[in-house]
Amino acid sequence: MIQTVFDILSIRKDFPILNRKVNGYPLVYLDNAATSQTPQKVIDTIVDYYSNYNANIHRGVHTLSQEATDVYEQARQKIQKHFNAAKSQEIIFTSGTTHGINLVANGFTTLLEKGDEIIVSALEHHSNIVPWQMLCERTGAVLKVIPMNLEGKLVMEEYHKLLSNRTKLVFCNHVSNALGTINPIEKIITAAHNVGAAVLIDGAQAAPHIKADVQKLDVDFYVVSAHKMCGPTGVGMLYGKEEWLNKLPPYQGGGEMIAEVSFEKTTYADLPHKFEAGTPNICGGIAFGAALDYMNAIGFDAIAQYEHELLQYATQELLAIDGLRIYGDTKEKTAVISFNIEGLHPYDIGSILDKLGVAVRTGHHCAQPIMDFYKIPGTVRASFSFYNTKEEVDILVSSVRRAKTMLS
Ligand code: ALA
Repeated sequence: MIQTVFDILSIRKDFPILNRKVNGYPLVYLDNAATSQTPQKVIDTIVDYYSNYNANIHRGVHTLSQEATDVYEQARQKIQKHFNAAKSQEIIFTSGTTHGINLVANGFTTLLEKGDEIIVSALEHHSNIVPWQMLCERTGAVLKVIPMNLEGKLVMEEYHKLLSNRTKLVFCNHVSNALGTINPIEKIITAAHNVGAAVLIDGAQAAPHIKADVQKLDVDFYVVSAHKMCGPTGVGMLYGKEEWLNKLPPYQGGGEMIAEVSFEKTTYADLPHKFEAGTPNICGGIAFGAALDYMNAIGFDAIAQYEHELLQYATQELLAIDGLRIYGDTKEKTAVISFNIEGLHPYDIGSILDKLGVAVRTGHHCAQPIMDFYKIPGTVRASFSFYNTKEEVDILVSSVRRAKTMLS
């Protein structure tokens, strides 16, 4: 029995898209790990920006520019407060998680030497593998991988064996996008710091469910995307400890990131502007702040409790289907269920679900090494949010049963 810790019907009314039909059926949106839906308050914030104070920021003396600058900087402060960063200049606006990771990976080019070691986890999204491989190619550093087990958890004993005084960087996601596993990042960070390595945590899949406290974690870098947490696409944040951000060179050159420019020499602006070349996604940043307001008004404890109950119910009901296997069955996971049905291709199941109005993701989920580990081409992934309901779980389960009958 799912205990409703908030008024789910009133929450659903906040999301206009949840009223639409797909292929004649009410939409059952279970692709939240790919992108979350947008509440009316965030949509209104976007409309208000373009209707009333659209202007470039940090540049103009005119009223619109000053208004836009103020609201944009207030959004940075909301993000700072949400993730409990010590200073607002430690929050860098990015275009999303991938941008944040590439910014850090690029910055370390000048700080690594041949033979230095970088550790990533076997549970990573491609965006937290490829930039580090490129960094290794540039520097001669060596990439090491923390292995995973069948439960979809990292093998921590092996991680401890990989750490040494050659380790300079450790990268891990807080939550696996493909399986939902919540990684023991506190232990990962502490052990890395014990050998003097810096740590970047990819928080893209954790941020919609878990409120990370970057100071308590003592993490060096934490990256997220707004669109996974009720905000718009094309905006995200990189948190970096001030001392690290000061050590890294700028990622891109351009307007806004400079102090003085001449043809002989350019000096760079202070944080955070050093990493924010060009006109940013102003409206996106402001809407990111509105999304955080919206989610915090509901409360992350309530969200986590409700989603956990949905996860337990959906897991139990799906496992009752003959031949259905769930990948990643650890207890420490967010509301993500990656599954296959014996003898059926995930793409075929996903296509039939779509015909019935149920949106899931199928494929390797940009995490091919995980699929290789399980020796499968991909999975069907249902990922839940706080606006999903028990009734939608029932529709998912009956639709999967129908797809199985049609395809068998
Ligand atoms: N990284 C996103 C996902 O897991 C796109 O679907």
